[in-house]
Amino acid sequence: MSGSYSGVLKATAGVSEKNLYLESYGCQMNFSDSEIVASVMADMGYGVTDELERADVVMINTCSIRENAEQKVRARLQHFRSLKRQKPSLVIGVLGCMAERLKSKLLDQEQLVDLVVGPDAYKDLPGLLEQVQGGQQAVNVLLSREETYADIAPVRLGSNGVTAFVTIMRGCDNMCSFCVVPFTRGRERSRDPQSIVAECLELWQNGYREVTLLGQNVDSYRWKYSQEGPQNSGSESGEIRFSELLQLVAEISPDLRVRFSTSHPKDITDEVLHTMAQYQNLCKNIHLPVQSGSTTVLARMNRTYDRAWYLERVDAIRRILPDCAITTDVISGFCGETEAEHQETLTLMEAVRFDSAYMFAYSERPGTLAARKYPDDVPEETKKRRLSEIMALQDRHSVERNGQEEGQIQEILIEGYSKKSKEDFCGRNSRNKMVVFGAVPGISFGQTVSVRILRSNKATLIGECLVESEVEL
Ligand code: SAH
Ligand code: SF4
Ligand code: F3S
Repeated sequence: MSGSYSGVLKATAGVSEKNLYLESYGCQMNFSDSEIVASVMADMGYGVTDELERADVVMINTCSIRENAEQKVRARLQHFRSLKRQKPSLVIGVLGCMAERLKSKLLDQEQLVDLVVGPDAYKDLPGLLEQVQGGQQAVNVLLSREETYADIAPVRLGSNGVTAFVTIMRGCDNMCSFCVVPFTRGRERSRDPQSIVAECLELWQNGYREVTLLGQNVDSYRWKYSQEGPQNSGSESGEIRFSELLQLVAEISPDLRVRFSTSHPKDITDEVLHTMAQYQNLCKNIHLPVQSGSTTVLARMNRTYDRAWYLERVDAIRRILPDCAITTDVISGFCGETEAEHQETLTLMEAVRFDSAYMFAYSERPGTLAARKYPDDVPEETKKRRLSEIMALQDRHSVERNGQEEGQIQEILIEGYSKKSKEDFCGRNSRNKMVVFGAVPGISFGQTVSVRILRSNKATLIGECLVESEVEL
């Protein structure tokens, strides 16, 4: 999950007459959507550039999850506008969740952009761009109950050629009271499993060795089918659930690693855990956002599980998948959170000892249930202090969990050179931990090698490649 909720993806340069510069913020699903956008734009003759000065169209795929995510985008839009003063033909488009949330306000009030496109309207980009090029502003923020972009082959952006995201469902039907996603992404819908398997198979055939299946709540993946069976057997109908989808993707090849995100504690089933146990290529990491350790806070958050339920799900993971890493998301200072409730988050963390966590101070989002129902009454300093307590505790647990991996020999899929040096490779183990080790001549990205873990810190494992084991690769 590293980098899933922040960060910028700059697309790689291409050779084309018309150039699109595309920046992405937010979750992995947004990054995955940008690959759909690049595909739609490629059909119109646009190549993707990473040089802003060469762009004819600038698009920013945005996130609304917290106030500061939107502030970053506004700052970027100001910058793009200053470029437009020098190059009036430049088209500036806002895509994604902020486009959906603010709709035409982005055009009317702020005069920052030409084009506003919500997450379900990317197929309409050709018509919208034409409108803009004809001198008008253009907006399409209609949400859909069906759109899954199943028929669009994504253009892989900024790809390492080894790992890729595959969106399996869109939208969210949960109503967590703090969360803007149901408003920006609309109703939950699952994508046809055949198109998912076809996309994963194609990735495999193109040399990719890991896919991450994406959805806001993958455990509620569901596809109803009905088809004519062979003669005399009549028609067949049934349902494919997430555990069956996992099985279908895992069976593409035992050498294709499969990850998924995000699991919802109320929905993750024992079948999913048993399926993970059955296939070694289903990676042993579950991202299970807890948000709070307090039953009363969870009730106000409308998460529909309580502390005991969450701990029971963790027990099930430990029982069925003893080697599985568990990561989480935590929010500090949600509406009405008392000191005692905050302490319950810390004691839950102590009980679970997460491998890693994304931790946030609560940020009120306009229009959400919480914004309408509860005052945002925990003072900013208190939210920050609680957040730093949560972070300090998580640092200790990350160090402890990573330390437990020292001495192990693990299979690492090489993703590239380490950030710091071309003399080192980096890749992840099944538990999604980044491992750095000395590069070995004759071995390259996309290969899986055995690595002995020598040292660790809170973020990384450091190892040595066991060269003998390459022979079979
Ligand atoms: N679908 C995922 C989460 C998507 S949003 C799930 O249900 O777990 C990613 C994370 O952002 C959430 O898990 C939550 O921890 C955080 N988040 C969402 N809304 C927030 C808000 N208003 N303030 C602070 N953090 C928030
Ligand atoms: Fe937001 Fe809850 Fe849906 Fe996750 S499950 S996207 S937190 S509403
Ligand atoms: Fe952000 Fe939208 Fe994802 S609000 S976290 S980009 S679904």
